[in-house]
Amino acid sequence: MNKLIIVSNRLPITLNTSSGKLKVESSVGGLATGISSLKVKTEKIWIGWPGMDFTKSKKIEIEELNNILNKQNLYPVFLSNKEIDDYYHGFANETIWPLFHYFAQYAIYEKEFWQRYKEVNEKFCEEVLKIAKPDDVIWVHDYHLMLLPKLIRDRMPDIQIGFFLHIPFPSSEIFRLLPWCKEIIEGLLGSDLIGFHTFDYVRHFGESVRRILGIDHHLGQFNVDKRPVKTEIFPMGIDYKKYSKAPGKKIVKEKIKNIKKRIGGEYIYILSIDRLDYTKGIIQRLEAFKLFLEKYPEYINKVLFFLIVVPSRTEVSHYKQLKDQIDNLVGNINSKYGNLSWEPIRYLYRSFDFDDLISLYSMADVLFITPIRDGMNLVAKEYVASKTDGNGVLILGEMAGTAKELGEAIIINPNDSEQTSDAIKTAIEMPREEKILRMAAMQNRLERYDLKRWATDFIERLEQVKDLREKMQSIEISENTMKILSKQYKNCKNCLFLLDYDGSLVDFDKNPKNVKPDKELSDILKRITKNPKNEVVIISGRDKETLEDWLGNLTDGLSGEHGIWIKDNGEWKTQENLSIEWKVDIRPILELFVDRTPGSFIEEKNYSLAWHYRKVDPALSAVRVGELKDALSHITVNLEVGVLEGNKVIEIKYSAINKGKAALNWLYKKEWDLIIAIGDDWTDEDIFEVLPDDSYTIKIGHGVSKAKYRLPNVQSARDFLAKLAKIKK
Ligand code: UDP
Ligand code: G6P
Repeated sequence: MNKLIIVSNRLPITLNTSSGKLKVESSVGGLATGISSLKVKTEKIWIGWPGMDFTKSKKIEIEELNNILNKQNLYPVFLSNKEIDDYYHGFANETIWPLFHYFAQYAIYEKEFWQRYKEVNEKFCEEVLKIAKPDDVIWVHDYHLMLLPKLIRDRMPDIQIGFFLHIPFPSSEIFRLLPWCKEIIEGLLGSDLIGFHTFDYVRHFGESVRRILGIDHHLGQFNVDKRPVKTEIFPMGIDYKKYSKAPGKKIVKEKIKNIKKRIGGEYIYILSIDRLDYTKGIIQRLEAFKLFLEKYPEYINKVLFFLIVVPSRTEVSHYKQLKDQIDNLVGNINSKYGNLSWEPIRYLYRSFDFDDLISLYSMADVLFITPIRDGMNLVAKEYVASKTDGNGVLILGEMAGTAKELGEAIIINPNDSEQTSDAIKTAIEMPREEKILRMAAMQNRLERYDLKRWATDFIERLEQVKDLREKMQSIEISENTMKILSKQYKNCKNCLFLLDYDGSLVDFDKNPKNVKPDKELSDILKRITKNPKNEVVIISGRDKETLEDWLGNLTDGLSGEHGIWIKDNGEWKTQENLSIEWKVDIRPILELFVDRTPGSFIEEKNYSLAWHYRKVDPALSAVRVGELKDALSHITVNLEVGVLEGNKVIEIKYSAINKGKAALNWLYKKEWDLIIAIGDDWTDEDIFEVLPDDSYTIKIGHGVSKAKYRLPNVQSARDFLAKLAKIKK
């Protein structure tokens, strides 16, 4: 890697001239605070918006500003007020933000906003292209720039592009409400690697890609335009050391002393810190706190709730309304429960710097975080990291991405005010030993997977995708390769052929009525098998009876049902003791689909079930395949079976066994000096995967493959084998 180029809507600094002078402030929000504390070995450049409109400034001022920022490796993208209104306040924060946080009722679908979103993404692309070199790594962040990966890819096809989404990716049912959902998915798929905070978000994304583009994934990997695109979970961490060391700083200790002095008296401190946002559940939190005071009056005069709300997106109407609601509710609670010497809530509508935040974290007996939806929530992690004495309790809403990692917090449903109000009591009354135990478990996890690990992990995976992409560039077998191979074949002593059947040796689409080996194929197979130095094995998804019937006399070995059955030395055996009890649950689902889908049928094999749809109307089958896979994905979660998509067939089979495992049976049988494998679909990739690097692995047809070589169709595969068959020793 040459340099790392971070691209996000906001730079880590925000410029402000409201006081008449240029002020530089740190940006708030998880993305800016997180990535800016990231240290990497290579040069790190950050491209983003500086936070205000400079488009009407004089050229000389812009140049000066550029100089100042460039010195810190920051490269501003200047946006006009109109662009900020439509792209940032509009499409990003009034369309995507509410929709992705399941506030679909707040989402506005405005063509103008979308147009501007496209234009601004293109503007960002131009800035990236000014700086990027082919060896650089580009890491695009968040929902403002979801079209950017594809825009860059179109202009720099080989560059490495990673994308990280800091907010939730919603269920496909919600995502598809967006009129431009297809363009967004295509934009994201321009990346090599797309990272999400949690498994749910990865799953939702995968489902959306399948439903919208019809592209399926295999273990999180999509193949797009002959390129692999990986999706993975990277739960964003924090700079753990920075937060765990900070409470020991002298300035922090002094700050705490001063705050306590000004408050006067000893209290149980409850703290919450969020940007002003309807996703953060601030209203629900206040309602729960009110209920707590109502139900447990013994805590009146004893608790103090520091409610810190940081101004955010103040131009957006729902944010303005929320501010009014919070103001009213705080006033209402303070006036109802407060007295001349005490008010239950200390409400501050402003942002704080690092030392102030640490002082608040250190003082807080309880951190009270209750989002309705939150991609991650770094405040919760920062609090845990800074509680080095273990004397604190975290109350955490289950809809925060963080809840997946911080299971030792008191986890609540933010809409359940009874449960939440009780959680406050539980937190306050929790024995010290328990607090320490819970904190220690969470701290261990946060220390291990800190910000550096998160970023390194992401970049390392990105590098792996690059290697994979290179490996997957299989090439047509040239005349020269054929010459070399023929020579090798002529001189070898032991040659292993591992051949897939349907799609590789016979072509169902061309000749649907007859997929039995015809004369041409029988002759080729017979000839190769006859040569004593060869071992010819067909590894197929078909059942063993058919294979035996059609190919028993033409080959040395057979494997059926994707590796479940193996015929070696003339005897059929299964790989393991396999259960078929799951068939009872799956068969009725397939039967339902047969009833609803004319032309489809079920094939029952010993250890698998297959739903064939070759004869189904293509438009209907596209819909049914999606529906069936949805239905199966839910039911197979707890079973030891997997769903496999072949050519016009969905197969459900025991998942621990695949064609690659079957190939191993022959691979370890002898010292082979030549191995040739031919296959056409996903299931054959498992064979290619297990073979040594010097094997001749051949993919039939288009599509991404781990095979080294490629042949265009079944006929060319037959011709290839026929050529070898003719070679005499
Ligand atoms: N933060 C800050 N000053 C404040 C309040 C918050 O710097 O006054 C920081 C906080 O330390 C955290 C980030 O802003 O790193 C908020 O991130 P989080 O993931 O909790 O929420 P987001 O704002 O990204 O939705
Ligand atoms: C969330 C988003 C970030 C954003 C931050 C602050 O964390 O994921 O992309 O920067 O909120 O929001 P703002 O609109 O002020 O940039």
